[in-house]
Amino acid sequence: MAGLLILSFVFLLSFSFSSALFQETKAIPIEITSESSTFKQKDLQTYIVHVSLPSDSDNSVQFHDLESWYHSFLPKTSTGLNDASRMVHSYRKVITGFAARLSAEEVKEMEKKEGFVSARPQKILALHTTHSPDFLGLHLNHGVWLNSTRGKGVIIGILDTGIKPDHPSFSDDGMPPPPPRWKGKCEFNNGTICNNKLIGARNFISKEPGLPPLDDYGHGTHTASTAAGNFVQDANVFGNANGIAVGMAPLAHLAIYRVCNKVICQVSDVLAAMDAAIEDGVDVLSLSLGHGILESPEPFFEDNMAIGAFTAIQNGVFVSCSAGNSGPLSTTMSNEAPWILTVGASTTDRSLRATALLGNNVEFDGEAVFQPEDFPTTLFPLVYAGMNGILFSALCAPRSLKHIDVRGKVVLCKDGFFDTHVKGKTVKDAGGVGMILMNSQPLGDTTLAEVHAFPTIRMSFTDGEAIKAYINSTSTPKAAILFKGTVIGAKKAPAVAGFSSRGPNYASPGILKPDIIGPGVNILAAWSSSVENITNTTSTFHVVSGTSMSCPHLSGVAALLKAAHPDWSPAAIKSAIMTSANVLNLYDSLILDERKLTADIFAVGAGHVSPSRAIDPGLIYDIKPDDYIPYLCGLGYKDKNIATIIGKTVKCSTVSSISEAQLNYPSFSIQLLKNATQIYTRTVKNVGESSSPYYVEIGSISEVDVSVQPSMLNFTEVNQEMTYQISFTRSATSIHNSIVQGAITWVCKEHRVRSPIAVILE
Ligand SMILES: *[C@@H]1O[C@H](CO)[C@@H](O)[C@H](O)[C@H]1NC(C)=O
Ligand SMILES: *[C@@H]1O[C@H](CO)[C@@H](O)[C@H](O)[C@H]1NC(C)=O
Ligand SMILES: *[C@@H]1O[C@H](CO)[C@@H](O)[C@H](O)[C@H]1NC(C)=O
Ligand SMILES: *[C@@H]1O[C@H](CO)[C@@H](O)[C@H](O)[C@H]1NC(C)=O
Ligand SMILES: *[C@@H]1O[C@H](CO)[C@@H](O)[C@H](O)[C@H]1NC(C)=O
Ligand SMILES: *[C@@H]1O[C@H](CO)[C@@H](O)[C@H](O)[C@H]1NC(C)=O
Ligand SMILES: *[C@@H]1O[C@H](CO)[C@@H](O)[C@H](O)[C@H]1NC(C)=O
Repeated sequence: MAGLLILSFVFLLSFSFSSALFQETKAIPIEITSESSTFKQKDLQTYIVHVSLPSDSDNSVQFHDLESWYHSFLPKTSTGLNDASRMVHSYRKVITGFAARLSAEEVKEMEKKEGFVSARPQKILALHTTHSPDFLGLHLNHGVWLNSTRGKGVIIGILDTGIKPDHPSFSDDGMPPPPPRWKGKCEFNNGTICNNKLIGARNFISKEPGLPPLDDYGHGTHTASTAAGNFVQDANVFGNANGIAVGMAPLAHLAIYRVCNKVICQVSDVLAAMDAAIEDGVDVLSLSLGHGILESPEPFFEDNMAIGAFTAIQNGVFVSCSAGNSGPLSTTMSNEAPWILTVGASTTDRSLRATALLGNNVEFDGEAVFQPEDFPTTLFPLVYAGMNGILFSALCAPRSLKHIDVRGKVVLCKDGFFDTHVKGKTVKDAGGVGMILMNSQPLGDTTLAEVHAFPTIRMSFTDGEAIKAYINSTSTPKAAILFKGTVIGAKKAPAVAGFSSRGPNYASPGILKPDIIGPGVNILAAWSSSVENITNTTSTFHVVSGTSMSCPHLSGVAALLKAAHPDWSPAAIKSAIMTSANVLNLYDSLILDERKLTADIFAVGAGHVSPSRAIDPGLIYDIKPDDYIPYLCGLGYKDKNIATIIGKTVKCSTVSSISEAQLNYPSFSIQLLKNATQIYTRTVKNVGESSSPYYVEIGSISEVDVSVQPSMLNFTEVNQEMTYQISFTRSATSIHNSIVQGAITWVCKEHRVRSPIAVILE
């Protein structure tokens, strides 16, 4: 029973996003089946093959040599030549290796060849599917957005479904030309040319060779405009959420890499795009994709996105990724590597308000994108579609309302399994006048405003239950639907979205994930034309939800920081974002989750992004790429597995390996036995005023003693580094097996540098 419940709620969640995501989540398992049905030997699959360079070569093998070396691994044709048609991608930077269509037998054969390292069938990834700049404190001619620091000179690479190049969000009004180091290409192939905003665009989908990088879905257009869209006046959807739409870094350039179509993303294509983006000269990579809802995480040396991201940070490129939409279950994160910024999703204070007024005068607020002006404000009879006890009816599934009298009534339906506009059509066809769509329990209080053309209020789980109870309590239940338009200042924002994936980190429990949360619920941004088919309007903006939406917010913030501090490493930018994050909501209470309870550390990570504080963090925790080597050795990975990640040979026996928590990370995740003490060191660099005395503030953690030595760091110079020691001690009498949390904060006059701490009491 419990297993069934969990499974069904996983599907409920995956179907609760935009209508377009519905198609995508439905299609992914189909693709996986066809990719993994290798029972017939002849079936070819795309494998990602890691090889090592020939032993007689130096490390500067030319690309021609590299390509012929890769080809030598391919199976031979009847004429004795290596079959070049099998090659899908030859990688140059992200890995030493290639992607090729191969059978399992051919891979077995390949394993015998010298230089072979590993080959695995590629994984299929899923997409993790504006007011938000304002909400994040970004205002024109003010603070972070004043003069030069609007992301000027920074290039953000978006790996997604492509782009709608003629959307006004990608106009280059006021944009300077790209920096001279830019080497990318613009391949629309129909005369459309790039401009100073949209500086490059290419298609990397190997199954669709030769296609232009156009977005036939909308997801990539949405994420690109969220990160760095230009200003567009009067952006709205059905007149709602009206305002100026703009990305987080309005002066940053966009480079588009099309790696997903409407249905799937293949990791071999994602790697090829990362390879190209690093060579092209991007500064920030934004990837709103990761493993799907039912897949388990994998060690970093099998996680090709983590491997590609490592090459990126070795080249100074910041990598921002979505955490995934598999919450609120724990241990559901995607993109868990410490060199990636892993972004969870939260609500904003904007609501597209619609209210259900019940016959007993009680009101419940929900969300609605479609707000017809002429909808009567009178009470209608109210009915619960699931009153017959049939799940399909409760869900308002197609044809499920046949034996229920919904004519002229407002109908309460449950979320899940079917797309919202399918349910709306079912209610409409059965003669209903409107729908109250209540959330599944896991989504809780996270009400998604969805685009459909039937009067519908999206209601939280608890409010939906209350409406159900009201219906049951009277013989004449009634409800009116009141459309109230766009309301700013929604209570309890930001709150963690129910769907946002949760830690602990599976691949590396000693690294706290997610790192940060950012706006990912009901985000208005540019869209390609497919909304028209649902709404019969020509809206070029769309409101959608997902960690896919929160990721590009952080990619844009990273671009702002990179423009302001060109010499900062990816780890320094990440540290600045994490240690300056907000842990309080607009009402000065701790950030809540979808249950309206205080969100735990594995839901919020360091907290909610605060760009204005991140740009001037005071101290940073830096990590150089080679600092990850002792960490990877400490994870117990084999030398050859580490070589796969870092692209060079390593002997862990000659490296003093460290525990995960000893990495100079801006947060702590500790596993502590009874009567045990653990001690770690951290090094912080002063990037604030030269003379800055910092004092430590230790938030108390139940059952754990935390102490810091020294308790004061008296910086006297800019870029000065100082080291402190932190110890965690659990008393012998401690009884609980649980997770406790807290933080340490270094405080000076101008700055608060906060590191969250999770302690798993074993
Ligand atoms: C904007 O420019 C002025 C003058 O060049 C400078 O003093 C100020 O610090 C800049 N502001 C930001 C936020 O970079
Ligand atoms: C190329 O395709 C884009 C996207 O469909 C379209 O907006 C544009 O008008 C086309 N350009 C030409 C010259 O056909
Ligand atoms: C309706 O009310 C009755 C009695 O008040 C209760 O036993 C029943 O569980 C309720 N049903 C629902 C669906 O709430
Ligand atoms: C939208 O509708 C048009 C014509 O009705 C059709 O050609 C097009 O494929 C549809 N687009 C999508 C994304 O469904
Ligand atoms: C959109 O317009 C078409 C053709 O006029 C119509 O058949 C369809 O029902 C409309 N869709 C909606 C959601 O109103
Ligand atoms: C910090 O160091 C400076 C320079 O050595 C010294 O003048 C100052 O008193 C120190 N501050 C504290 C609080 O110790
Ligand atoms: C706790 O550790 C101390 C020192 O390591 C040891 O002397 C003591 O016996 C331990 N107590 C328990 C209850 O294990």
